[in-house]
Amino acid sequence: MPGKLTINFIVVEDSNALAQRAAQHFTELAEQAVAARGRARIAISGGSTPKATFQLLGDSAQPWRARMPWERIELFWVDERCVPPDHPDSNYRMTREALLDHAPLQPQQIHRMEGELAPEEAAARYESALRNSFRLEGAETPVFDIIQLGMGPDGHTASLFPHTAALRELGRLCVANHVQNKDAWRVTLTAPVINHGREVFFLIGGADKAAVLHEVFLGPRDLERLPSQLIRPAGGILTLVLDKAAAALLPATDAGGCSSIERIE
Ligand code: 6PG
Repeated sequence: MPGKLTINFIVVEDSNALAQRAAQHFTELAEQAVAARGRARIAISGGSTPKATFQLLGDSAQPWRARMPWERIELFWVDERCVPPDHPDSNYRMTREALLDHAPLQPQQIHRMEGELAPEEAAARYESALRNSFRLEGAETPVFDIIQLGMGPDGHTASLFPHTAALRELGRLCVANHVQNKDAWRVTLTAPVINHGREVFFLIGGADKAAVLHEVFLGPRDLERLPSQLIRPAGGILTLVLDKAAAALLPATDAGGCSSIERIE
C-alpha cells in the first residue's frame, strides 16, 4: 500500500518480557475486536519466537488465559510448512503443544493449513476455507482482526521469502511457495491479505534480528530482497513488539519503551 506508514515500536527488556508483552498485546487486541465486532479472527505465525507467548496465553497461572475471549475467537495461520501436523517442523504442532492443548478452543474455531497435502492443494483448500469462513464474494479480501508476524534474519515474513514467486501474488489469498534455499514448500497468506488486517504486528526477539530490522524499516526499499517491506497495512499503522536485543539498531525509545517512525513510499 503506497502512502504514509506509521511504525510503532514497543521495546521490552528481554525474551521473557517479550513473551509477556506479546501475550498482553494479543489479549488487548482480542478484547477490542470482540467489543467492536463480536468476534476476533486471528492469524498467527509459526517459527520459534511466538511459542513462549502461546504458552503464556494457555497457562491458567497467567492472567491472559482468563481474559482472552476464547469463545469469540477464530484461529487461523499465516503460513505453514508442507509437512504433516505432527511433524517437528509443523507450525500447527508447535501451536497445539504450546496453546491449543491448554486453551478452551473448539475444533471448529481452529482453521489449520493442511501441510500434509500437496502444496497447491493445501493452498487451494485454505483459500476456500477463508472464502467460506469470511463469506467472501468475488475478489473480496478477508479482513483479519489480528495478524501476528515474525521475521527471519533474511527479511522474510510469513512464508514470503526473498526472490520467491509468492512475493508477486496479488490475486490469490493463499499460495504454495517453493523456497529454493530450504528446498522446501510452504503455504502462505499473500501480502495483500496480510495488509488488509486491522491490527498487524511483528513479534521479534534476539540480537540476530537487529541488522535485518534496521534494513527493513530504516533502509531503502528492496521488496524482493526484504519481503517484510511488503507489509504496509491498509490502516497505515504497523506495530513491532521487540526485545532490546532485536531493537538495538532502531531509534531510541521513550521511558515507556515506545517510539515510532513514519515511512512515506
Ligand atoms: C515460519 C514462520 C516464519 C517466522 C520467521 C521467524 O513458518 O517459520 O511463520 O515467518 O515467523 O521465520 O521465525 P523465528 O521466530 O523462529 O525467528
